[in-house]
Amino acid sequence: MNLKDLYIDYFVSKGHKQIPSAPVVPENDPSVLFNTAGMQPLIPYLMGEAHPYGTRLCDYQKCIRTNDLDNIGDTYHHTFFEMLGNWSLGDYFKDEAISYSFEFLTKVLNIPVERLAVTVFAGNDLIPFDKESHDKWLSLGIPEERIARTKEDNFWIAGESGPCGPDTEMFYFRSNDSIPEKFDPEDERWVEIWNDVFMQYHKDEKGNITDLPKKNVDTGMGLERVVSVLEGVDDNYKSSVWSDVIKEIEDISNLSYGGNEKSMRIIADHIRTSVFISADNSGVKPSNVGQGYILRRLIRRAIRHAKKLGIDVNSDWDTKIALKIISKYEKYYSELKDNKDVVIEVLKNEKIKFNRTLEKGLREFEKVSSKDIDGLTAFHLFDTYGFPIELTEELATERNLKVDIDGFKENFKAHQELSRTASSGQFKGGLGGHSEKETQYHTATHLLNAALKQVVSKSVHQKGSNITEERMRFDFSCDHKLSDEEKLKTENLVNKWISEGHEVHVEEMKKEDAIKSGAECMFIEKYPDIVTVYSIGDFSRELCGGPHVKNTRELGHFKIVKEEASSAGVRRIKAILE
Ligand code: ALA
Repeated sequence: MNLKDLYIDYFVSKGHKQIPSAPVVPENDPSVLFNTAGMQPLIPYLMGEAHPYGTRLCDYQKCIRTNDLDNIGDTYHHTFFEMLGNWSLGDYFKDEAISYSFEFLTKVLNIPVERLAVTVFAGNDLIPFDKESHDKWLSLGIPEERIARTKEDNFWIAGESGPCGPDTEMFYFRSNDSIPEKFDPEDERWVEIWNDVFMQYHKDEKGNITDLPKKNVDTGMGLERVVSVLEGVDDNYKSSVWSDVIKEIEDISNLSYGGNEKSMRIIADHIRTSVFISADNSGVKPSNVGQGYILRRLIRRAIRHAKKLGIDVNSDWDTKIALKIISKYEKYYSELKDNKDVVIEVLKNEKIKFNRTLEKGLREFEKVSSKDIDGLTAFHLFDTYGFPIELTEELATERNLKVDIDGFKENFKAHQELSRTASSGQFKGGLGGHSEKETQYHTATHLLNAALKQVVSKSVHQKGSNITEERMRFDFSCDHKLSDEEKLKTENLVNKWISEGHEVHVEEMKKEDAIKSGAECMFIEKYPDIVTVYSIGDFSRELCGGPHVKNTRELGHFKIVKEEASSAGVRRIKAILE
């Protein structure tokens, strides 16, 4: 039986209700990009709100931690992982929580007591030594020498503020060496497998600690690690969690894991996380902000390591790995099944986008890597070739060079501020709000206009448009309902132009000259004498106030979601960029 099922069955038999795993992108918590721990979705309930399922809960929770991408590639760090957890919301406390943990480890998982050790909170100025937990472990048969008292590591809080409290961690002796009598938490042969947090305090942003209305228990067991401990492997990627995914990568690359561990681990880890992010119902897509930027970096780093292994990055290697991962997890997380096609599309589109600049970027890197990489150069690699900073860092490290990360960040920030000021100054009062997304939709409107002229008829003219963060609406003159074929062809043409990466050119000229040069516009009389003309490739030329993206490549994937009548002789298309 598998660990998730064993865990849930055990805690259900102890009166717990299983709660569903929350989405990886938190629904009501803008403070974090991703769900980082099993307790995260439970914060309101740990703070005192009544949970609809009662006071004893258990689950397996999808978690994503991406603060240290550099660590991925070793034997045990993962950007995505599953956490098993059980909670008491003002129900049982230390005594029962520790009894359950001990029984599950020794009776269900059959771990010999000799291989276990624990840490308990030693106490500090504010909070006393956790004698209760210490005595409980002792009563269960954990000898005094295997109960370490520590200060820093035994106080748990997610981030800087929120519910928190002392914890007791359980360790397993992983090595074949004889087990030292005295437990030293610094000795790496002991690996942490479970954490019981006794949440009884709340820390506010100023650092003040107050009692929570109820005393809670929050526990977390990292599934990947426990599986490899139980299976007796010293590398998580050799356990059953990963072995078939690694096998798939071996088959695709025609290489063996031994000797290629780092790249294979990064590919496996990053693709798995990308699958879970893009399958999330929040609809995150690769972009340069927020969750989308994490997704982009993960996919791009995986692509670069695939390339390192000699995999033909234009082949469907990413689909194969993603499908393997989906088939492993879909039983537990139905969104993987429901959004399988979306996941495959996301990976494919990002791959196509990145492949286009990767080669050039790598050549550029060769040119600039005769010395350490300064911030501006790193930014240029990002801005022009789409190199996420850790990719530049990784390439630099391979050549024993340093990258000025702070300098990169400064340039990144300055660039963002510059584009914000530019757009707000230029279009003040004109087109209203124009976020990155709206700017993309403005450009997409021009592409759609041009595509309809080519696919449907030269006589198509724009009759209106409306843009929000979520979608674009485009009205145009046309005497018939578009056929499925016309819609598909239009969509394909727009996507072709997007993927061809055309620069969006802007020039100012006299209105008459603009019209003479063939520029389109809706209401000529509405424009001032000097106008701005935006042109894209040789297919689009329009009078427009903007704002627009610099290159069509920035638009992502264009999709028509609806085509309907607007008024007599006018049709309306609703479309999205994804
Ligand atoms: N919330 C605790 C942890 O993440 C259980 O370790």
